[in-house]
Amino acid sequence: MNFTGFTMVELITTKRDGDALPPDALRWIISEYTADRIPDYQMSAFLMAIVFNGMSSTELGAWTDAMLHSGDVLDLSAVTKPKIDKHSTGGVGDKISIPLAPIVAACGIAVPMMSGRGLGHTGGTLDKLESIKGFSTTIDPSDFADQLDDLGVAMVGQSETLVPADRRIYALRDATGTVPSVPLISSSIMSKKLAEDLDGLLLDVKVGSGAFMKTVEEATTLAETMVGIGERHGTPVTALLTNMSQPLGRAVGNANEIAESIDVLRGGGPEDIRRLTVRFAVEMLLLAGERDVDTANARVTEAIDSGAAFEVMVALVQRQGGDPAVIENTDLLPSAAHEHVLAAPRSGVVTRCDAYEIGVAGVRLGAGRATKKDDVDPAVGFLIEAKVGDVIEKGEPLALIAYNDESKLHSAIEALAGAWDIASDVGAAPAPTEGLILGEIRS
Ligand code: URA
Repeated sequence: MNFTGFTMVELITTKRDGDALPPDALRWIISEYTADRIPDYQMSAFLMAIVFNGMSSTELGAWTDAMLHSGDVLDLSAVTKPKIDKHSTGGVGDKISIPLAPIVAACGIAVPMMSGRGLGHTGGTLDKLESIKGFSTTIDPSDFADQLDDLGVAMVGQSETLVPADRRIYALRDATGTVPSVPLISSSIMSKKLAEDLDGLLLDVKVGSGAFMKTVEEATTLAETMVGIGERHGTPVTALLTNMSQPLGRAVGNANEIAESIDVLRGGGPEDIRRLTVRFAVEMLLLAGERDVDTANARVTEAIDSGAAFEVMVALVQRQGGDPAVIENTDLLPSAAHEHVLAAPRSGVVTRCDAYEIGVAGVRLGAGRATKKDDVDPAVGFLIEAKVGDVIEKGEPLALIAYNDESKLHSAIEALAGAWDIASDVGAAPAPTEGLILGEIRS
């Protein structure tokens, strides 16, 4: 298999050695890989070369466009409401899209949300949604506009017709350590989002140990890159940089994150999740044309308090084949056979609750995938009992671990060994939700 005389090996070698490839070569790689004519082992090597050597903006533009046009681009011109979506760059316990989409839909905005599965140590919206019995994350493109008109929201994944290149590359990156790369993350996210025919996009760019970008500087580069791609396609983008040094909320897993999302739709849920969800909803209303922040806040609060957002969630689950009884009663979600209490080794105040180590432990427990072929276990996961700023006594739970397989439990506990720091000086910890939003970039 070759590109005008060059073999894939030569293209990999060029990228490995830090040289730029012409747009035609990048388009060729995307189309051949999508058609299963480039094997995974060569694509993995190519992706790793991108992780190490990056891409020029010309390369990134060609690569993103090729991914975007690897399948259909939705035509949602028949949808009269403004179409606004949100995407996160990936975190631990980050279930915000799940309550957010129905809240924004209840405010009269169309949310055509195309999400991803777990990636590396981070969780994925699609895996979480699939813990609702029967829920299908695929919708026929011809039904998409109808569902958006009727309900104001659709939550789907990449498919054989919608950005199939990202579907394949995403799964490969998950299993080959090729996630943390500005061009690979930007092209993956923006190809999906630009295929949705949007009027505006909100990006949650995570920063910290549990994010792929560990520093504000790296996250700013990623945010600016994605805002720039949006600008070139005429799509307004707002990017908020948010703190991912500890997991969001208490639940880390799949089914348990759905339960926590439903709590938010019922007006409860953990403070950090509620705050971010409301802030993101307000930003999406602003992208949709609302001019006044106070009015946007009031509309979002009303959507939650009136139960309208919860009702949209019930209708969404029903429309996509899921069992709505699960939303009415989250005890019906899958549950694990066993529970283990991870106890605090000493008394004091929690000064670190590490999102990365907890995310890795979640993958080991079975909440994520170790290889492309693995299924996730929707029932396993953690309830984090001690977060930064909490005062804890020796022997009290740091986390409750729901598990099905003893050997996976042991492996997860090993990963958790260094996840918490506990200081004896109770004045040592920062406020728990201090610095939740670390910056913003707008087009
Ligand atoms: N979300 C995506 O869709 N892709 C990435 O690469 C990271 C987060």
